[in-house]
Amino acid sequence: MMGFEHNEIDSDEYVTMQVIKMHLRKNLPVLNPVIQRAVERGFPAYLKGATPSAESEVVLITPVFSLVKAIVGRVNNQIFFGDELSQNEEFAKAAMRYPWDGSTTGEICRYLPEAVVPIVGRIMMALSGSMRTVDHHVTKLVDKRLKELADGTGEKQHVDITQFVILSSRTPGQREPRRMVQLIAALLFAVSLAVPMALYWAIINLCVHREYIDALREEIEAVEQQQLSDPLKGMRLLDSFLRESGRLNPPDSLSVQRKAVKTFKLSDGTTIPTGNLVAVPQYAVMRDPDYYPNPEQFNPRRFYLEEDLTSDNAVQRFTDVNIQYPFWGAPTKSW
Ligand code: HEM
Repeated sequence: MMGFEHNEIDSDEYVTMQVIKMHLRKNLPVLNPVIQRAVERGFPAYLKGATPSAESEVVLITPVFSLVKAIVGRVNNQIFFGDELSQNEEFAKAAMRYPWDGSTTGEICRYLPEAVVPIVGRIMMALSGSMRTVDHHVTKLVDKRLKELADGTGEKQHVDITQFVILSSRTPGQREPRRMVQLIAALLFAVSLAVPMALYWAIINLCVHREYIDALREEIEAVEQQQLSDPLKGMRLLDSFLRESGRLNPPDSLSVQRKAVKTFKLSDGTTIPTGNLVAVPQYAVMRDPDYYPNPEQFNPRRFYLEEDLTSDNAVQRFTDVNIQYPFWGAPTKSW
């Protein structure tokens, strides 16, 4: 992550929190159409046949995982770096590769002796070249945006994560351009791996359980007629489908991964010695019959109740976090 470290420069993760919880949420009405456009443009590039519609047959000309990586990658580039840089093809390709090159390097390094990890890691990332290209362009972008802000010309016109990081950084350490570039790289990592995996499984589950396609289409069309201020809130079946898809296919079998920086005692008396790693086995938790009857069955209506449509009572949404659904991490620390 270009040397990003979670340290005293932002010990309470104020900047990350502001970027994700404040700026991104506040700007969703502006960003949603941008995301929609990137998705609409992305799919046809990987489909062969007539213009996709309910009636026409289309053929996917690339493996599903390559498709979702490309689509999510393009959306991320737009949301992170705005129009100008995301349309630079050399940069766009490098930015889409970089998190995957980084995670492959990380996985290989996990099996190597600690002493050689920094050398091997650096060599592998240098050979891939994607980090160098991203670093070069993002550093230039941050410098340009900082200059625009200093001249009083830029603040309003950019709605992207680069701008949100700049606007949220307060202290001299946080306002160092290098630190900002590192944080942008770290955030790019955070969004680049889990989102394609969730989309991959949603598409695969749609293909396997084709009988739900019509019901989901009908729901989307009905909600579109209602012209709700937040249409996604009306798509309860879609939400339940995604939550069920995530329950059976989390991106990692472990969640809430933590390292004990000092000896820690759990409430049941178990002691975790310093340096040990602990995690929640989310794959097992989300298939536990005590929490989920008939847990191996893919049931897209598991989190959907007809009466939810008319009630204001709490329902379990895809983005809700609880101990039985650690898909998003710890309930106390979900973004
Ligand atoms: C399907 C999509 C996603 C899944 C399944 C997912 C899941 C997770 C999980 C399990 C963690 C670890 C949390 C913990 O240890 O308690 C995490 C961390 C994080 N996620 Fe996501 N995430 C997704 C999408 C996103 C998106 C879209 C963003 C940003 C807009 C984001 C930003 C972050 C950040 C910044 C962290 C690091 C938090 C920290 O450790 O300080 N994630 N995510």
